[in-house]
Amino acid sequence: MKSEPVIAIAGVTGAVGAEFIATLNKRGFPVRKLKALASRRSAGRTVEFRGGRIEIEELTERSFDGVDIALFSAGSAVSRRFSPVAVQAGAVVIDNSSAFRMEENVPLVIPEINGRRIREHKGIIAVPNCSAITALMPLWPIHQRNRVRRVILSTYQAASGAGAAAMQELVESTRASLAGEAFEPRVFPHPYAFNVFNHDTRIDLETGYNEEETKVIRETRKIFEDDRIAVGVTCVRVPVLRAHSQSITFACERPIDEEEVRAILASAPGVKVIDDRARNISRCRSRPRARTKSWSAVSAGT
Ligand SMILES: NC(=O)c1ccc[n+]([C@@H]2O[C@H](COP(=O)([O-])OP(=O)(O)OC[C@H]3O[C@@H](n4cnc5c(N)ncnc54)[C@H](OP(=O)(O)O)[C@@H]3O)[C@@H](O)[C@H]2O)c1
Repeated sequence: MKSEPVIAIAGVTGAVGAEFIATLNKRGFPVRKLKALASRRSAGRTVEFRGGRIEIEELTERSFDGVDIALFSAGSAVSRRFSPVAVQAGAVVIDNSSAFRMEENVPLVIPEINGRRIREHKGIIAVPNCSAITALMPLWPIHQRNRVRRVILSTYQAASGAGAAAMQELVESTRASLAGEAFEPRVFPHPYAFNVFNHDTRIDLETGYNEEETKVIRETRKIFEDDRIAVGVTCVRVPVLRAHSQSITFACERPIDEEEVRAILASAPGVKVIDDRARNISRCRSRPRARTKSWSAVSAGT
């Protein structure tokens, strides 16, 4: 790319859209122009970007003229409809939805694991499911040295994974619960305050897995390029505003001990080992987020 790219964010008002903007800022990513796209509902509102305000436009077939990189996070249906339009207009699409993840010609990329695959794109690069990314980051460096043949994964998934409206539902339903008031859930199929439940996606009646669990199984095999890896997953929603946590148990082809795993993870890109057993904060990092006044916990469990 000769000059700084024109970037479009489709879904700019959502939970992921906000993180796209934050990440562009945090990394000082070069941007000639940012196009802020969302549904008709948001057209005319503004978002803040690098000290200025950008007017949000309705996403249409004409939105991608002159765009170099299009970041999509407006749901699978929107991605399916508009990603080919963006590619046709000359943009490279980076898609956060599940629309194209399992398509053969679409690289499914976690940069620290298979960033080389980006070169093979035909216009669309897919971002994996959040539970898959979190699990595979620490498993991959181990897998490279001693093949991981079996993984049992349990997730504790926050409201943020279901979008801005879900986070709002957690806040409002918790307030209502503490005040002893009734609250009718709008986003989730179950009361969310002070509750845990099976991940709120459709269950495959044959396998018994919900869609989130199925995604993790399939995406792990595609990213690791290993169809033999046995993956058992349980995905559960917990009443936490931000950041998913996971417990991961795995078996390698050859014996592996804790010290070896610790040494591998110490130098693994994107993985931070926190293991302060004396203070009982092993495998857990908590940090306050001023924006939501919540605490987040991220675990890279072994
Ligand atoms: N949240 C996560 O951690 C996460 C992680 C990985 C992937 N994803 C995926 O990313 C996508 C968005 O997730 P999210 O959590 O950001 O959801 P969200 O907070 O509900 O935001 C949805 C965004 O999509 C826009 N949108 C909805 N319908 C649209 C339409 N017809 N045309 C244009 N824009 C439309 C919304 O715009 P309006 O405000 O105008 O309605 C909003 O900006 C989903 O596919 C999700 O599966 C989410």
